[in-house]
Amino acid sequence: MKAIVIKKPGELCIEDREMPVITASQVLVRVKAAGICGSDVHIYHGKNAFATYPRIVGHEFVGEVVSTGALVTKFSEGNSVVVDPVLSCGTCYSCKIGRHNVCKNLHVMGVHEDGGFQEYVAVEEKQLYILPDGISWEHAAMIEPYSIAAQVINRGKLAEDDHVLICGAGPIGLVILQAVKQSGAKAAVMDILDKRLDMAKNLGADCVINSKTMNVKEVIRNFTNNDGASLIFEATGNIHVLETCIHELTAPAGRIVVLGFGQEPASIPQIDIMSKELDILGTRLNNHRFPQVLDWFKKGIVYPEKIISHVFKFEDAEKAFALTQANPEDVCKIVLKF
Ligand SMILES: NC(=O)c1ccc[n+]([C@@H]2O[C@H](COP(=O)([O-])OP(=O)(O)OC[C@H]3O[C@@H](n4cnc5c(N)ncnc54)[C@H](O)[C@@H]3O)[C@@H](O)[C@H]2O)c1
Ligand SMILES: [Zn+2]
Ligand SMILES: [Zn+2]
Repeated sequence: MKAIVIKKPGELCIEDREMPVITASQVLVRVKAAGICGSDVHIYHGKNAFATYPRIVGHEFVGEVVSTGALVTKFSEGNSVVVDPVLSCGTCYSCKIGRHNVCKNLHVMGVHEDGGFQEYVAVEEKQLYILPDGISWEHAAMIEPYSIAAQVINRGKLAEDDHVLICGAGPIGLVILQAVKQSGAKAAVMDILDKRLDMAKNLGADCVINSKTMNVKEVIRNFTNNDGASLIFEATGNIHVLETCIHELTAPAGRIVVLGFGQEPASIPQIDIMSKELDILGTRLNNHRFPQVLDWFKKGIVYPEKIISHVFKFEDAEKAFALTQANPEDVCKIVLKF
C-alpha cells in the first residue's frame, strides 16, 4: 500500500509500505478522504514543536472498515467511519478529570505517531464513529476540524447573548463561525484577506473586519454597543493579535480562547487581565466532541462545502502542499482523495 511520508522537514514522498497489522482491539480502515490541516503543513516545514520524523501526517480522515480485531464489537466490514485522532493514557491527572485531550502522555495520530495519509490504517475501536448516511467522503473529512469548533465553544462557554469576535477566517475560524451562528450569538470575523472575509459573510458573519484597512477597535465598539467582545476566539495564531484582543477588544468579564500554538512570547500588562477580570482559556484538539459534530451533520446545520476549496488525488499531495503555501488567498481547505 501507498503512504504519504514526510521524511524530514521539506521532504515529502509517496512510499510503499507493508499493510498495517491490527491488534485485537483495533480496526483496519481503508482511507477514503483526508483533509490537509495547517498543522500538517507546519510539520512539512519543520515548524511543529510536537512532531517527529519520518512521519505519515494526517489527522482529519475517514474511510471504510476492512477488518476488525477479535475484541471489537461495535464495527464490522463495510462500515463508513470517521477517526478521532486523539489518543490518551487514561491514568494521568487530566485523563482522570475527564480532559483526555490534554493527557500528559497524549498521542495524536499524524503528529506523534503515523496518521491518515496512507491507504490503510490501524486504529483503536474507541477512536471510531459511524458516519451519517448520505454524507460524501470529502465532506466527512471535515468532521475533525468541526470537532475543534465544538471544543472551543465549550471552552469559551458560548451563550446566545454573546457578541463574539473570531480572529482569523481560515478553515478553523470559519468552522467556529458556523458553530457560533447556530447558537444564535452575534459574530464578527477579522482577517487581513478580503476573500476569506467574503467566505465569512457567506457563512452568516454579522460583521467582517479587515484589520489592515479598518480600525478594529472602533468597529468592535460599534458592533458591541461599546461593551467590547464578550467572547473572543484567537484563530490567527499571531501573538500580536492576542495582545490586541486582551488589551483593547474584550469586554470586562469577557473570555478569550487561544487556539494558536506559536512559541513567540507575548507582552501583556497584568492590569489588562486583572482590571477586566478576563478569562484566558487554552484549547487543544477535542475532548470526545465527535458525537456532537455528527449531530450537526445529521441536522444539516454545518456547511463543509463552503470551506473545501480543492480536492486532489493523494498521489498529488506534494502539489497540494505547495498550493497552500503559494496561494493562501484562494486555498482554504484541501481534501485528498484516496
Ligand atoms: N488549539 C487547537 O487545537 C488547534 C486546532 C487547529 C488549529 N489551531 C490553530 O488555529 C489557528 C487557525 O488555524 P487555520 O487552519 O484556520 O489557519 P490558517 O493559517 O489557514 O488561517 C489563519 C487566518 O488568520 C489570518 N491572519 C493571519 N494573521 C493575521 C493578522 N495579523 N490579523 C488578522 N488575521 C490574520 C490569515 O489571513 C488566515 O485567514 C492556527 O494558529 C492553528 O495552528 C489550533
Ligand atoms: Zn487539523
Ligand atoms: Zn492521560
